[in-house]
Amino acid sequence: MSETPEIAGRQPIEMSVEPGRSYWWCACGRSKKQPFCDGSHKGTAFSPVEWTAAAAGQAWFCACKRTARQPMCDGSHKRLPA
Ligand code: FES
Repeated sequence: MSETPEIAGRQPIEMSVEPGRSYWWCACGRSKKQPFCDGSHKGTAFSPVEWTAAAAGQAWFCACKRTARQPMCDGSHKRLPA
């Protein structure tokens, strides 16, 4: 069964990340703690995606949940229907 994730936002979410730390990106779009998982995917076909920061700095996490480069933005939000 395939499901379409919800659109949590139409712009990427910029976050400060710490080197070596793991982040759990919400893939389903239902989390209230975007861009990260809050457990709301239960009962859906989605699971959070783990990502570990290689270096300190800023990261742009996908909010539309359509990226092909999970969990980072790849510009797919620009092609969302209005
Ligand atoms: S709440 Fe969306 S993947 Fe967990």
